[in-house]
Amino acid sequence: MDKSFMIKEIKRLKEEKNTVILAHYYQDGDIQDIADFTGDSLYLSQVASKTAADTILFAGVHFMAETAKILSPEKTVLLPVKEAGCPMADMVTKVRLMSYKEKHPERIVVCYVNSTAEVKALSDICVTSSNAEKIIKHYQGQKMLYVPDKNLGTYLREKYDLDMEVWPGFCCIHNDLTIDQVEMMKLKYPNAKFIVHPEAKLEIVKIADFAGSTKGLLNYVIESDHDEFIIGTENGIIHTMEKACPNKKFHILTDNLACYDMKLTRLEDIYYALKDNKYVIEVEESIRLKAFKALDKMMKLS
Ligand code: 13P
Ligand code: SF4
Repeated sequence: MDKSFMIKEIKRLKEEKNTVILAHYYQDGDIQDIADFTGDSLYLSQVASKTAADTILFAGVHFMAETAKILSPEKTVLLPVKEAGCPMADMVTKVRLMSYKEKHPERIVVCYVNSTAEVKALSDICVTSSNAEKIIKHYQGQKMLYVPDKNLGTYLREKYDLDMEVWPGFCCIHNDLTIDQVEMMKLKYPNAKFIVHPEAKLEIVKIADFAGSTKGLLNYVIESDHDEFIIGTENGIIHTMEKACPNKKFHILTDNLACYDMKLTRLEDIYYALKDNKYVIEVEESIRLKAFKALDKMMKLS
């Protein structure tokens, strides 16, 4: 199908089916461009919880669509590619977390939103990379467990001197970044600021000029007086940055910064998802109610 015809059809179906399209910053540029809202995981959850549309089509990965369903159970939530998951979210399971909690009932479970509904349901509160620092301050002085991202957890523990155990999960994209890569890019672009997502290892975050969520990184480049940046997060964000700052230059730290799962979704998938109403996300009600509690606490403290 011709691309411009497909875009027209997507727009027509979207109106006809009263659907809002949400796209994460890591999606391909053409998908971000047809979305009603683009953003980081926190912002998109907020939009999902407030939308008046009947259907939410989530161009992202499974935990994001599932979070939208937990927050808006009365809506139909569609994930265009059913295989689009987040490997990090699968690094903590309900059974492993239950057995940890039996041994350490005193620890508050702080759960990164990159997690399954079952894991959220066993947690006291959720966080995203853009609100984790703010929320964690409410629990300072208490014993905590952070699941599943060891890097973001370690970053929080070191920065705020927390009594926090961290689960050994990680993002396969950000965890692979190395100091050598940063040094080589700094030699190549000596005037560029290096910015990174806190899912990278602490040693990388420590040498960055700025670390933050996808939205935080975007705000940084918009507000900065500098005009050249080395980007230490998934390459989809560069599309957004170039649109927001057409006169600034962005260099991706390494070509490996492409999330395989985020990049599974194509325009065709969006079209077929709208046309055939797929893939519908469901969350069992007893799990949803518990997961909602952890997410709702996060929303109130954000
Ligand atoms: P944000 O919360 O910054 O959007 O990040 C989500 C994510 O999956 C990062 O890898
Ligand atoms: Fe998951 Fe990493 Fe992809 Fe984000 S970039 S969705 S954390 S695998």
